[in-house]
Amino acid sequence: MAEWWRDAVVYQVYPRSFADANGDGVGDLRGITNRLGYLGDLGVDALWLGPVFASPQVDHGYDVADYRAIDPLFGTLADMDELIVAAHARGIRVTLDFVPNHTSDQHPWFRSAVEAGRGSPERARYHFRDGRGPDGSRPPNNWRAVFGGSSWTRVNEPDGSPGQWYYHLFAAEQPDLNWLNPEVLAEFADVLRFWLDRGVDGFRVDVADALIKDPAFPDTPDGSPIIPKGADSPVHGVYRAFRRVLDAYPGDRIGVIETGAGDEVVALFLRPDEMQLAFGFRLVHAAPDAPSLREAIETSLAANGRVGATTTWVTDNHDTTRSVTRYGSRASFGGAYVPGELRAKDAGPVDVAAGTRRARAVALVLLALPGASYLYQGQELGLPNVDDLPEACLHDPIWERSGHTFRGRDGCRIPLPWAGDRPPFGFSTSPKTWLPMPDSWASLTVEAEIADPGSMLTLYRDALRLRHEQRALGRGEFRWVEGLADDILAFDLVLSGETVRVVANFGAAPVALPAGKVLLASSPLEEGLLASDAAAWVRRRI
Ligand code: BGC
Repeated sequence: MAEWWRDAVVYQVYPRSFADANGDGVGDLRGITNRLGYLGDLGVDALWLGPVFASPQVDHGYDVADYRAIDPLFGTLADMDELIVAAHARGIRVTLDFVPNHTSDQHPWFRSAVEAGRGSPERARYHFRDGRGPDGSRPPNNWRAVFGGSSWTRVNEPDGSPGQWYYHLFAAEQPDLNWLNPEVLAEFADVLRFWLDRGVDGFRVDVADALIKDPAFPDTPDGSPIIPKGADSPVHGVYRAFRRVLDAYPGDRIGVIETGAGDEVVALFLRPDEMQLAFGFRLVHAAPDAPSLREAIETSLAANGRVGATTTWVTDNHDTTRSVTRYGSRASFGGAYVPGELRAKDAGPVDVAAGTRRARAVALVLLALPGASYLYQGQELGLPNVDDLPEACLHDPIWERSGHTFRGRDGCRIPLPWAGDRPPFGFSTSPKTWLPMPDSWASLTVEAEIADPGSMLTLYRDALRLRHEQRALGRGEFRWVEGLADDILAFDLVLSGETVRVVANFGAAPVALPAGKVLLASSPLEEGLLASDAAAWVRRRI
């Protein structure tokens, strides 16, 4: 089927935390294959697997040492082949994470760059520069790394003397590649082909917009890096080349841009000869109220519409505080993005019950919007963030690099609870899971939620079933319903004479629903009225 991705629901698997088949306390590929039945029943169209390539795991696989090998932690290449075949047999497509901005410092290219010394072609694949000051002991510029600290780390030259510095946007163990060097593009195009030949349906491209840095590396007033992304940045040439690789394969293979950039910049990567989808993080940043959601939806649709692109909706992923917890307070989420800290500092105490109600309402908004939607594992169970992990358990490099200022993203990466009434809840046979699981999750297991008609899982399963049945959901022509109170968000999706109206009530009082058949509501109706912090899908004849 052509352009399957335009209205796909893609489920993000965080492999470490999905299901552990070999009992070492860490999720793996066989664990995913064993649970494909669950994903099929949920009704998703495709998977995005977080990075499973050979890696020292400093940033949980976003530090790749061999792009063509599976890390033994997750299994083997044969396990991956089996997963792809088994998913396809269920009609589920498989997309992989692709991490081109940086390699691991253990990648053979980086090791040989350090060994080869100043001015070598090996160093020209990365950004090596001399330091400042008479003895070169100060970093080449003042740019700060996303995970904290300087973006530069010094190496020892082959003779053991303190030498050049290399640039890393993230951790020191993640040296950035020099994408102005054609050798880098040739290698990564070949990596794409390696996986496309094995049958994968596409790639989520990590830090996709940041591949090119200003090669002059000038100081900036606040230490933020200069990363050209505009219409004429060479980064777009990279995506045009990737697109040619994808298009050489049958079956509509896709590239999905990960960028935190503004809507207009995101849209540039979606021009017809670049990638097909790009995460719009507007919904991640939006507060659970009608004006914030409306603004996020409106601006994303407008920017993508200008280049004829599909919008990709997302509220949760492995880098953000889970939405149930975010929505547990009304504070807005604007301001600087610190991964894992997507909550206003003054957010106050979290009301998980209110957060869950609002997350249910937002789920019905998300899954109705025209375009592709991404779900992050555990979102369908309504898992909250775990914010009280003992410090000794924290894995995220952000914790160390921020000088123990930011706890990082571990709280949204806790293993998935499958069944039973105590940890590890069927995730593993080992009680020692890589991150501890809260005792209180017994009511949030897949097993418990499948049996509960009022659970988050039942809501998601119903919503996805309806999305497949009612063609207007996710596909119809989008029209705002105007003239309602400020705290009501309402829009129509119109397709072939059928309208589904989405109404979300973020006000304090219940509201009336329009005439029509209520297909689904996120909270029980109260004498026919839509409760506060609830949403409904209503089918209408036009
Ligand atoms: C990924 C993060 C990762 C970072 C560096 C992000 O976009 O989603 O999990 O730490 O890139 O690769």
